[in-house]
Amino acid sequence: MCGIVAYSGKKESVINSLVTGLKRLEYRGYDSAGIAAISSSGIYDKKTVGKVTNLERAVLEDQPVGLNGIGIAHTRWATHGEPTVANAHPHASADGRIWVVHNGIIENYLEIKKNLQKKGIKFTSQTDTEVVAKLIGDLYKGDLRSAVLETVAQLKGAFALCIISKDEPERLIGVKYASPLLVGIGKDELIIASDASAIIERTKKVVYLEDGELVDINKSDYEVVSFQDEAIDKSVEKIDWDVDAASKQGYEHYLLKEIMEQPEAIENSLRGRILLDEADVRFGGLMDVSARLKDINRVVLLGVGTSYYSAKLGELYFNALTSIPATAAMSPEYRYTKNNIDKNTWLIAVSQSGETADTIAAIEEAKRHGALVTGLVNVVGSSISRMTDAGVYNHTGPEISVASTKAFTSQSLLLLMHAILLGRQQGLDFSASKKLIRAVVDLPKSIGEVLKSRDLIEKVASSIRKDNDLFYLGRQYNYPIALEGALKIKELAYIHAEGLSGGELKHGFIALIEPGFTTIAIATDDVVKDKMIANIAEVKARKGRVVAIANEVIKQADATVVVPNIGSDMLQPLVNNIALQLIAYYVAKERKLDIDQPRNLAKSVTVE
Ligand code: F6R
Repeated sequence: MCGIVAYSGKKESVINSLVTGLKRLEYRGYDSAGIAAISSSGIYDKKTVGKVTNLERAVLEDQPVGLNGIGIAHTRWATHGEPTVANAHPHASADGRIWVVHNGIIENYLEIKKNLQKKGIKFTSQTDTEVVAKLIGDLYKGDLRSAVLETVAQLKGAFALCIISKDEPERLIGVKYASPLLVGIGKDELIIASDASAIIERTKKVVYLEDGELVDINKSDYEVVSFQDEAIDKSVEKIDWDVDAASKQGYEHYLLKEIMEQPEAIENSLRGRILLDEADVRFGGLMDVSARLKDINRVVLLGVGTSYYSAKLGELYFNALTSIPATAAMSPEYRYTKNNIDKNTWLIAVSQSGETADTIAAIEEAKRHGALVTGLVNVVGSSISRMTDAGVYNHTGPEISVASTKAFTSQSLLLLMHAILLGRQQGLDFSASKKLIRAVVDLPKSIGEVLKSRDLIEKVASSIRKDNDLFYLGRQYNYPIALEGALKIKELAYIHAEGLSGGELKHGFIALIEPGFTTIAIATDDVVKDKMIANIAEVKARKGRVVAIANEVIKQADATVVVPNIGSDMLQPLVNNIALQLIAYYVAKERKLDIDQPRNLAKSVTVE
C-alpha cells in the first residue's frame, strides 16, 4: 500500500532521511509522493506525481532553508482520488498549520467531511486523508496530542498517521490502528515508518506500535500512550536483517535478485527446523500451541494471490500426509462462505507482508469461532504475526519487488513441513518422512541448478514476448504452480494468462487454441506426466504452440525448459516454478516494463 516515513533528529539529515526512506518504501506505492518539514518560517512542503525521484529533484531545486530536523513524508498508491498533486500526501489543516500523512482507509470520511463542510471548511482533494488533517485542525486547542486523540476517537477504518504542527515545532506524532507503524531508535534521531526497510540504513533498534497506540516524539524523547492517553511501556526490539538484504546487490532488478537468492533464502527458512535423524521437523513458533494441535480435526490454509496458491499446494500436502481434511481458502471470500469452523480447526494464515487486509479480516472471523490460528508470515512484527495465536516466520529476508517469488517458494516448503509435523503426530511412516525431509534439505541445491540455466530460459522467454494470451497447464502438485505461473506473467509482463488443470482443457478452454496460441505445459516425471503429454498433443493437434517444463526434452513440444528431476513429486513443483518465475522476468524485461513496480500494483494490500 502506501509508505510513511517521518523523522525527528539532526537538521541536516531531515530531507535526506525522508527521501531515502521513501525510496526504500517505494515498492509499497508509487503514483505520487510528498514531504512536509518544519522550518523557521512555518512548514516547507512539496508534492509531486510519479516516482520518488521526481520529488527528490523538486526538493533539490527548492533547497529549503531553516529546517529544524522534523518532517513527514509519504509515497502513495491511490485509493480515493486519482494520482495528482492535490491528492498526494501530506494533507494540511484548513489554516495550513497542521500536516498529516496517512496509510489505510477512513471508512467514515464522508460523514466527517460533511460535518466539517457545514462549519465552512473547504476541501482541496478527493482523499479520505484530508478529513483527518482538517479534523485535527478543527479540534486543535494548543496541544497536538489531545487534538489527535480526539480525532482518532472519531475515525473508523484503518489508519497509520504521522502528524506535525507549525505551532509545536519540536513535536512529531504517530498513530497506529490496523495499519503498520514502527519507531526506529537511532543515535540522536527517531524515525517513524510504516515498514522497517525505511529505517534499516539508520538503525536496527525498533519499537513496534500496536493497534490503538500513539507515539509522541519531542525532539529526541518519545512516549507511547494508548488512545485513552495512558502510558504504555514498550520494549525495543532488534531487526534481524541488514541493509544488504534490502538492496539490489548488483542485480538489475530486485526481482531477479530475489529469484536468484532463493537457495540461500530457503536455507534460512529451514535453519533449526529439520530433525533428520528423527525424520521430523520442529517449529519453535508452534511450541506454545502443541497441546492444541493434538485435538485438531480440520485444517484451513488461508491466503490470497500468490499466498493462496501456496495454500493450495499446502492443501495437497496436508491431505497426502495426514488423515485430517485440509482446504485452502481464499481470504477475500472467506467471510462470505459457511465455514463450519470451531476450536478444533487449525487455520494457517499465509502472508508475505503480514498486512493483507482480506487475510486479517478472515483471521478475525476464524478467531470469533474459536479456531486455532497460526501465521506463516515473512515480515517480522507485522500485524498478522501479532494477531495470531502462534506462528512461523519465513526468514527469507525482505521481499522488495512487488511480485512475490522467494516468499512463495518458502511458504510452500514450510507448509509441507507443517503437514509433516501433523503427519508425524498421526503416525506418518518414519522412512517416508525421512525421504521427504531429505528432499526438503536438498531443495536449495536443486533450485540452484535451475538458476544456472537462466540463459536458456531467457531464450525460451523471448519466443513468447509477443503473445497476448497464454495457457499454463499443470496437474496435481503442479496445478497450483500453473496458477502461480500465470499470475506472475500477468503481473510482470501484462500478458493475459490462465492457469489450468490439464484436465480442464477439454471442458471449454480448448476452444481458444488456434495456430500459434502458446501453452506452457508442466510435464515433469510424475504420476500425471502421461496425462500432460496427452494435453500437449491436444494443443498441437490444433496447431497451438507448446513450451514444456520437463525433465527431458518433450519431442511433441516446440520448446522444452529442462529442469532437474529431484525425485520427489511433492517438491518438484517448486523447482518447476523457478523456471516460470524466470520466464515471467525475462518476458517483462524484453517488453521493457517496470519490473519491480508493475502498474496498478502495491506490495501489501492493506485495504479490502
Ligand atoms: C503476487 C503478489 C500478490 C500477493 C497477495 C498477498 O506476486 O505479490 O498476489 O501474494 O497480495 O499478499 P501477502 O502474501 O502479503 O498477504
